[in-house]
Amino acid sequence: MFATVMPSLKALFLPLLHKFIHTDFHEAVARMTLIDRLLFLIIHSIDKLGIWHRLPVILGLLYLAIRRHLHEEYNLLNVGKTPVGVRFNPADFPFRTADGKFNDPFNEGAGSAGTFFGRNILPVEQKSKLLRPDPMVVATKLLARRELINTGKQFNVVAASWIQFMIHDWIDHLEDTQQIELNAPKEVASLCPLKSFKFYKTKEVPTGFYEIKNGHLNTRTPWWDGSAIYGSNAEKLKKVRTFKDGKLKISEDGLLLQDQDGYAISGDVRNSWAGVSTLQALFVQEHNAVCDALKKEYQDLDDEELYHHARLVTSAVIAKIHTIDWTVELLKTDTLRAGMRANWYGVLGKRFKDTFGHVGGAALGGLVGLKKPNNHGVPYSLTEEFVSVYRMHSLLPDYLDLRDVNAKPGPNKSPPSTDKVDMSDLIGRKGEAALSEIGFTRQMVSMGHQACGALELWNYPLWLRDVIPQDIDGQDIPEHVDLPALEVYRDRERSVARYNDFRRGLLLIPISKWEDLTDDKEAITVLHDVYGNDVEELDLLVGLMAEKKIKGFAISETAFIIFLVMATRRLEADRFFTSNFNEETYTKKGLEWVNTTENLKDVLDRHYPKMTKTWMNSTSAFTVWDAPPDAHNPIPIYLRVPH
Ligand code: HEM
Repeated sequence: MFATVMPSLKALFLPLLHKFIHTDFHEAVARMTLIDRLLFLIIHSIDKLGIWHRLPVILGLLYLAIRRHLHEEYNLLNVGKTPVGVRFNPADFPFRTADGKFNDPFNEGAGSAGTFFGRNILPVEQKSKLLRPDPMVVATKLLARRELINTGKQFNVVAASWIQFMIHDWIDHLEDTQQIELNAPKEVASLCPLKSFKFYKTKEVPTGFYEIKNGHLNTRTPWWDGSAIYGSNAEKLKKVRTFKDGKLKISEDGLLLQDQDGYAISGDVRNSWAGVSTLQALFVQEHNAVCDALKKEYQDLDDEELYHHARLVTSAVIAKIHTIDWTVELLKTDTLRAGMRANWYGVLGKRFKDTFGHVGGAALGGLVGLKKPNNHGVPYSLTEEFVSVYRMHSLLPDYLDLRDVNAKPGPNKSPPSTDKVDMSDLIGRKGEAALSEIGFTRQMVSMGHQACGALELWNYPLWLRDVIPQDIDGQDIPEHVDLPALEVYRDRERSVARYNDFRRGLLLIPISKWEDLTDDKEAITVLHDVYGNDVEELDLLVGLMAEKKIKGFAISETAFIIFLVMATRRLEADRFFTSNFNEETYTKKGLEWVNTTENLKDVLDRHYPKMTKTWMNSTSAFTVWDAPPDAHNPIPIYLRVPH
């Protein structure tokens, strides 16, 4: 009876619904279930008013929960084949493997190194307009930094390094052997540091499927498994382990060890710099401290077992810091603070979870510790769109403002500046040598006290317009590249939708004129100059930088929607954060370690007990360290109203 009534109900409802929704979504809505159509109508009505972030926290969370549900239903697209094999017994693999295999019991390869990037939106083929408008024109006129725009006190260079540290855990495209060359058109050539440059195509691999015919491979394991320090394969892992008491190699000065050629020994050193290397070193220290603690508690654990448990614990500490410390500073509003903490602890909160354990489903008890992983019917991967919204090179400054950590602290615990070191001198092998001179504490404190760049137009570092890229082993590739121009090209080459289609794909109202994107008169003039009146041609990267930001957000709303679905997925689809987030897998001591570490400051305090006491005034290690600590707000977070 219900089954016969439903289709006619749906057909009746659709024309009525169309009256209330933007014409661009009629097709998408036609594919939704009746309930989802209603849910879409709710968020779409709120979007038309542009007010979700100004709603009381509880309503804002409801809006985000509905959005996340719709994206989980309609924006997770598999690329490549889903093997139909015998399921393995997760008990045979109670640890993270070197290449990320054997996490999903129904699909042993899911999330492993060398698998396809998934998609959130269907590919939008752009082969005929790879050079339209010219990427070097876009980079020169709209992206290149004129004068640094920073994020004020909100976000510091530790935060910029942190996200690069995460990128090195999650994603990297496999390249082809065929080269492409881009030439600067006359109109901008005099302003381009490189008049032409060559780079390797992204490797395109047939998927064997009709809808998404080709895909690209991720050389890193997309699981949140600490592969930036452990590597994404057995060979790399072997290089970083000591094979004694489960520990990883580290130098006596607390920094990464270097090989005979001066390259850092770590899980992933490609296109890296001293800031990332410092964080890698910190988490190697963390891993080794976990090994010590476990060995003391459980004397019969051997090297292999200690390594496996310590990796689980360290990876979970990293994921937790990212979720409830880094992201909370990036999206500094009460609604997101409540939302991110709910992802980890559930709305019942930390105190409840610490006392009673995980109770209820994802909403009440949080994603971490769920009884079963949930991949929403799509094998786990990170996506092309995810890579594109993480193109955040504008976070990087032009130089590192080195501080004197032997001086007496000034106002708000600030150390005096001594030297300015060009960022280009801190990358790769050169950067490792410089870091050895600078030392861990001075590097960390200097990064802590320096604001990072803002994700805005005209803020892409010029030193990245003539940079030497590296191969997968961190060795220099002879050809220099113009990174902002290359990034514009990459999104097109990888068939990632341009800005307006990207928004449509995410059920966000598209722009119809430049004024919908930004209030900046000069930006409108230059957008017009580069793209004419055709807002459909706007490149994603440019749109993300130009978009008016929500108050407190360091990223655009468009990028945030990808975060909303993928940040959840990284935890929810992983059995080591769900069914295996238990004492049996982590050990009692190990689980306690994760549960009692709340933020990056806790990790710094563990290894450098004097550092934050002397030099950090702020509450979070990701805000500029001389910022005032967060003020106490007596109103419970769920009852707050943004102002
Ligand atoms: C010293 C600092 C950095 C250097 C030298 C650097 C350099 C590079 C280079 C050469 C590429 C490859 C470009 C290509 O061939 O497509 C790349 C890719 C990328 N970088 Fe950076 N980068 C740095 C910092 C950052 C930061 C702070 C972020 C922030 C999230 C970031 C995010 C990315 C992403 C998402 C990609 C694309 C990866 C892929 O294609 O799979 N990078 N970077």
